[in-house]
Amino acid sequence: MLFERLVSGKLHLENRIVAEPVVSNSGDEKGAPTSRSLDIYDGYAKSGVGLAVIEQHAVHPWGRNRLNQFRLYGDDEAASLRPLTKLFEKTGVAVVAQLNFSGAGASDKSLLHENDFRLLSPSGARNPRDLIDADSQAIDSALLPEITDAFASAAQRAVWIAGYAGGVQIYACHGYLLGQFLSPLTNWRDDAYGGDLKCRARLLFETTRAVRAAIPDSILSVRLGASDQMPGRPETGLTLTESAVIAEELLHIGVDWIGVSGNHCIYGIGEDDGDTAYFSPYSSAIRNAVGARIPVDCAGGIRSRAKAEELLQNGVCDLIGFGRPLVQDKAFVQGLRGGTTT
Ligand SMILES: Cc1cc2nc3c(=O)[nH]c(=O)nc-3n(C[C@H](O)[C@H](O)[C@H](O)COP(=O)(O)O)c2cc1C
Repeated sequence: MLFERLVSGKLHLENRIVAEPVVSNSGDEKGAPTSRSLDIYDGYAKSGVGLAVIEQHAVHPWGRNRLNQFRLYGDDEAASLRPLTKLFEKTGVAVVAQLNFSGAGASDKSLLHENDFRLLSPSGARNPRDLIDADSQAIDSALLPEITDAFASAAQRAVWIAGYAGGVQIYACHGYLLGQFLSPLTNWRDDAYGGDLKCRARLLFETTRAVRAAIPDSILSVRLGASDQMPGRPETGLTLTESAVIAEELLHIGVDWIGVSGNHCIYGIGEDDGDTAYFSPYSSAIRNAVGARIPVDCAGGIRSRAKAEELLQNGVCDLIGFGRPLVQDKAFVQGLRGGTTT
């Protein structure tokens, strides 16, 4: 099944392989792609994947993760991405920009020395994985519409100016701002954006609705942190049961596919990543929640054609995501196709 076409709503894919977003740290000081970025993404464009999600782009100056991160918060910043998206033209690969507001998930301490930078979070908490070693400020609810608007405007710039012909993916996992709101470990607000699941998910739902309305004809995905804990660990924080409810609402809002990963447990670094498909129980639960009405991906520790086919055949997921293998080997998909990657 891996190399069969997939047609579902706005998704028209040559095969079921997704290049998952992996930060390349290759932008210049203005967040524009460099020759190194173009070399990396030329590899993706020619890799043979069906769908490529390009590493997180900042939607707001305060939402940056690193100084050299790609940016979509102004027209000039969006235009600087054209050489990158051009690489995908006429390749048949659907190319999508991942949109992010990092908040307390930011990882570059030098951001704190930028004029007017604010490290924001739902409740002023530090993330469990506190990469920046700094206190954050609780976001005033009056600022939340600005964040929602920033995602919607960034989505339009991604499609209309930067040339992301596929569309966008909203980054709601790995402990970044939208994931911080979803998790009771980092969200203890007592307003309409904290407390029970409906309230913790409100910002994600409002953002997804705004982006859907902003780019009605383009692909819209959400990468959802399905739990704060890795599979098999005692559940504290955001649970899989809660994420299944979130996924169903995302379906109703009109997302075209759901990416599945971890939230505060991030994406499995430090685990025995082998060929274990460690997030497959999460993908399976999310796929059940949406009744297989939209595609759901599985990514994390998938290394072989046999494992990918097994996941697809067993109805665990509809799309197979690869992160590190594609970074390490430009011919990885060719290997899968030819059977040299077992
Ligand atoms: C260095 C690095 C950077 C990453 N950057 C992102 C990112 O920008 N957005 C995202 O959603 N996931 C990011 N991820 C997670 C990957 O997309 C993927 O989920 C993870 O690497 C597990 O898949 P794999 O075992 O195939 O590598 C990153 C992973 C790594 C190792």
